[in-house]
Amino acid sequence: MKEQIEQILAELGDLQTKTMKDVEDARVRFLGKKGEITKLFEEFRTVAPEMKKEFGKKLNELKQQAAARIEELKANAEQAAMDAAPKEDLTMPGEPYQLGSRHPVSIVRKEIVDIFRKFGYDVAEGPEIEDDYHVFEALNFAPNHPARDMQDTFFVSAGHPNPLLLRTHTSSVQVRTMEKQSLPIRVVCPGRVFRNEAISARAHCIFHQIEGLYVDENVTFADLKQAILLFAREMFGPETKIRMRPSYFPFTEPSAEVDVSCNICKGKGCNICKGTGWLEILGCGMVDPNVLEASGIDSKKYSGFAFGMGVERIAMLKWQVNDLRHYFENDLRFLKEFSTCVEV
Ligand code: DAH
Repeated sequence: MKEQIEQILAELGDLQTKTMKDVEDARVRFLGKKGEITKLFEEFRTVAPEMKKEFGKKLNELKQQAAARIEELKANAEQAAMDAAPKEDLTMPGEPYQLGSRHPVSIVRKEIVDIFRKFGYDVAEGPEIEDDYHVFEALNFAPNHPARDMQDTFFVSAGHPNPLLLRTHTSSVQVRTMEKQSLPIRVVCPGRVFRNEAISARAHCIFHQIEGLYVDENVTFADLKQAILLFAREMFGPETKIRMRPSYFPFTEPSAEVDVSCNICKGKGCNICKGTGWLEILGCGMVDPNVLEASGIDSKKYSGFAFGMGVERIAMLKWQVNDLRHYFENDLRFLKEFSTCVEV
């Protein structure tokens, strides 16, 4: 037994392990249930009584040394595994995401729509590819009206009796809403519109409009004026004044264009308002009875008002970015200027 103990001690000293699995195998080999040291403890029962004290001590020492050696090998294997692992600090925080921001046109559209929502208006949308009927005919445009001209309108299927075209204004959504919605109607219709224009600082072939429509019994021009005034004050500040100038649209009678007092110079006259103290913001009027009737609404019983404004136009007034092209080029340096304008 003495030799066996010495041999095991020598083997333990020479033991070479690399992985944790090697260490575990070694532990089982020496200290496991059927391990070499465990066996020696079983044999110890047969040792002569006078030798028990000496061997008992030796065996206990062997067991302790074996356990210590296995612990040492385990620590080495753990260290080796850590040295081989990737060196990055996995506790470092991740790369932050670059948060995007809303486009200035979206910011203004949302602001306008939110104001009208507060007044009790719903939001309606319609198709960008429309037909002549909804863009022109139902809105009381005469058959030979110049707006239908190829120079102004992009046609998808010209030559057809009711050609498809890219809508030139969101007034078409008025018609679709009157066709399907029950009265009273109170909606705003935001959307993209298309015109066959040469692109410049002041004109673009794509831009955005918001149409408004209110139809009920006893709606008057005074209601229209009040709605526009309240909107202008919400949008441009409580001091804002409005003025209405007579105008003409085929779908409203009477029609008006609305100016707001210039909020840069407070009406004194500056280069933004070209010295007039006023800025044009929208077109509006009382819905022409022909338009109500075309969509099946009794114009004797019901009346309504409508208005339409350009979103980029309002954005230009809000931020004095007076080149329309900036709103479509999506230059990140420009877009980032607006990143603090709304919560993301
Ligand atoms: N559709 C007109 C345009 O594109 C804007 C407009 C004017 C809409 C008067 C209206 C309105 O609803 O009543 O220029």
